[in-house]
Amino acid sequence: MNILAIESSCDETAVAVVKDGRTVLSDAIASQADMHAIYGGVVPEIASRKHIEAIAALAEQALAQAGVTRADIDAVAVTYAPGLIGALLVGVNFAKSAAFGLNVPLIPVHHVRGHIAANYITHPELEPPFVCLCVSGGNTLIVDVKDYTRVEIMGATRDDAAGECFDKVARVLGLGYPGGAPVDRLSQGGDDRRYELPRAHVADAPLDMSFSGLKTAVLNLVHNAQQKGEQLELKDLAASFSAAVSDSLVPRAMEAAKRKGYGKLAVAGGVAANSRIRADLERACAASGDKLYLPQLSLCGDNGAMIGCQGYYEYLAGVRGGMDLNAYANRDI
Ligand code: KG4
Repeated sequence: MNILAIESSCDETAVAVVKDGRTVLSDAIASQADMHAIYGGVVPEIASRKHIEAIAALAEQALAQAGVTRADIDAVAVTYAPGLIGALLVGVNFAKSAAFGLNVPLIPVHHVRGHIAANYITHPELEPPFVCLCVSGGNTLIVDVKDYTRVEIMGATRDDAAGECFDKVARVLGLGYPGGAPVDRLSQGGDDRRYELPRAHVADAPLDMSFSGLKTAVLNLVHNAQQKGEQLELKDLAASFSAAVSDSLVPRAMEAAKRKGYGKLAVAGGVAANSRIRADLERACAASGDKLYLPQLSLCGDNGAMIGCQGYYEYLAGVRGGMDLNAYANRDI
C-alpha cells in the first residue's frame, strides 16, 4: 500500500511516499528555515505562503523520486494538528484535493504521533507498547504508546517546549535560528558545571516539566553580564544549559519507563538530535536495562515519511478524514 504523505505544520514543507508503513520510497523536504532566520524565528504568515509555493512541485518530486505515478497511490495522509494554523491549512487542503482527485482515502495524522512513528522507520523491529519522550520545538511530552493508535500522555511541559527553550537561548547568544543544533555544537567540550542553572519541579506532578524558569535564568545571566561588561564562557554556558535541559527530561522519561515496565523507551522530535540528551539516555538505559530507541538524525525533525508511517497504522485502525477535515492549532495527541 503506497501512501502519499504531507506535512506542513511549521516551517518545512514535506511530501513522502511510504510503502506498507515502514518502507520510505521518497521523502522530499523544502525547508524555509533560512527565510525565518532573518527574523529570528518562524513568521506564521510567511510560513503559509512558502508552503503554498512549494507543495505542488514537492509532491511531483516525491512521486518521481519514489518511481511511482499518481495511479500507484492508495491513500493520502496529512498532518492536521497541532501547529501553525495557516501552515497546516495548506497541507490539509492540498491533501484533500489530492485524495479527491485520485479517488483514494484521506487519513488525518496528529503531528506528534508522526514524530513517534519516525522510530518505526528507523527500527523495523519496534512495536508498541513502549514509552516515548517527545521533544520538539512546539511539544514536550512523555507518552505511553499502548498501541499504534492508542496513546496516553504521562507527563508534559507546563510552559515552554524544550526546543523553544533551545531556540530562545540560541537567540540571546547570537547563534541564529533554529538554535538547537548550534547550541549543541557550541556545548561540545564545555564545562557543564560552570554555570548553576535551575531544574524545575512541578508540585504533585513528578512527570510534568517546566522550562520557562531555565530560559529566563539564561537570559538574565547574559543580560547581567552585558550590563557589567563581563565576558561569559559561552561554551561552558551552552554545556551547562544543555545539561539542565537533559536533567529535566531524562530522569522523568526513565521514571515513566519504570512505571510502565515495557522495557522499551523511544525518543522523538527535533530535540531528539541533541547529543547530550542522547548520551544521558544511553547511560540511563544501560543502567536500567531498558532498550533505547533513537530515531535516525534525518527523521528527528519534521518530515513526510513519519506522517506516511503513522498514516498507515491510522488507516489500518479505520481512521478516515472527509472533505470537511479541518486543521487545528492545538489538539490532544
Ligand atoms: O521536530 P521539529 O523539527 O519541529 C517541531 O515539530 O517543533 O523540532 C525543531 C526543534 C527546534 O526547536 C530546534 O532548535 C530543535 O528541534 N533542535 C535541537 C537540535 N536539533 C534541532 N535541539 C537541541 N539539540 C539539537 N541538536
